[in-house]
Amino acid sequence: MNIPFNEPFIEKEEEKAIVRALRQKHLRGDGPSTQRVQEEMEEWLGVDHVLMTTSCTHALEMAMMVLGIKEGDEVIMPSFNFVSSANAVVLRGAKPIFAEIRPETMNIDPVDIERKINNRTKAIVPVHYAGVSCDMDAIMDIAAQHDLYVVEDAAQGIDAYYNMKPVGTIGDIGCYSFHDTKNITCGEGGAFITNNDEIARKAEIIREKGTNRAAFIRGEVDKYTWVSEGSSYIPSDILMSLLEAQLEKRKEIKSKRRQIWQQYMDLFSPYADVLRLPVIPEGRDSNYHIFHFLADSEEQQQALIDSFKEEDIPATFHYVPLHSAPFFESNYEVNNFLKRTQKYSDRLIRLPLYPGLEANEFYFSAVKKAIERIV
Ligand SMILES: Cc1ncc(COP(=O)(O)O)c(C=O)c1O
Repeated sequence: MNIPFNEPFIEKEEEKAIVRALRQKHLRGDGPSTQRVQEEMEEWLGVDHVLMTTSCTHALEMAMMVLGIKEGDEVIMPSFNFVSSANAVVLRGAKPIFAEIRPETMNIDPVDIERKINNRTKAIVPVHYAGVSCDMDAIMDIAAQHDLYVVEDAAQGIDAYYNMKPVGTIGDIGCYSFHDTKNITCGEGGAFITNNDEIARKAEIIREKGTNRAAFIRGEVDKYTWVSEGSSYIPSDILMSLLEAQLEKRKEIKSKRRQIWQQYMDLFSPYADVLRLPVIPEGRDSNYHIFHFLADSEEQQQALIDSFKEEDIPATFHYVPLHSAPFFESNYEVNNFLKRTQKYSDRLIRLPLYPGLEANEFYFSAVKKAIERIV
């Protein structure tokens, strides 16, 4: 059995889209495909501004720049996290402050956010792990009470919902990823989402190397020039053309992923007294980005990963918590109070999840065999 950990769902339509983009000879960014993708996403998500970016990492960097995050500021996020949101803060000379997670979802715990707020705090970055939304009502309430910005790291959250609202559209800014490991992909890509006109105006300048070129193209100014700090965050129209084809398949992709996720849940349910299965809380609609579960102990995590490997199943852990990563430890005073984050990341196991696995009975019996060897 040769099962990759991830595999993008690419068919003829994506191949045709790339060829069409090449023949069109508009290879740079902000061409016809980018325009169509932006408009389609604005309509689907019901938001005022979608700016396509080269990655979610870049959308997060733009967010911190737009919000004027600077030296001396603090931004609260989970430590159980990918590096991008922390780097975006560090690049502004500010400090990421890590908050605890809740084990049912591995998402940031609003109670701990509140404990970590002080007069240096400027923003909160909820990360919607595995495509299951954070508790956005609680987070938005805290942000409103303390006058903080909310930047949703929705890298894993495309087509996931919180009380019917797409994740990424609830905070001041949302950031999506279209990396090759994500549900909908163009290889490398992202989006910066906002309903705030002022944020959007600043973001379009930062995205375009700090120039007002976008306003010039709309005919609002007669010359474009350097008006702010910025960089180049515009994806090629070839990639946006591929993304356009992927977006058309979002229902099919989600439905296939849901089927596989459910197949895992059915298979794991007899072991639920030992292994802790993921929870999709009331009011949240997952996009089934990741299937994960928690082992009973760190030793059992390793034993299970080894047992999956024996069946040629590429099981893996997820995230070395950022507060314990070498970069943070050597540059910042380490916050030692993230016991839950450490405990649960030392137990988490991820299994492959992508369209194509849903009909693979051979694979699922190998998964069962690997669990039964240990549990
Ligand atoms: C939570 C989270 N944030 C940010 C990113 C970065 O996304 P990108 O690869 O598009 O920069 C990822 C990618 O895996 C992620 O999982």
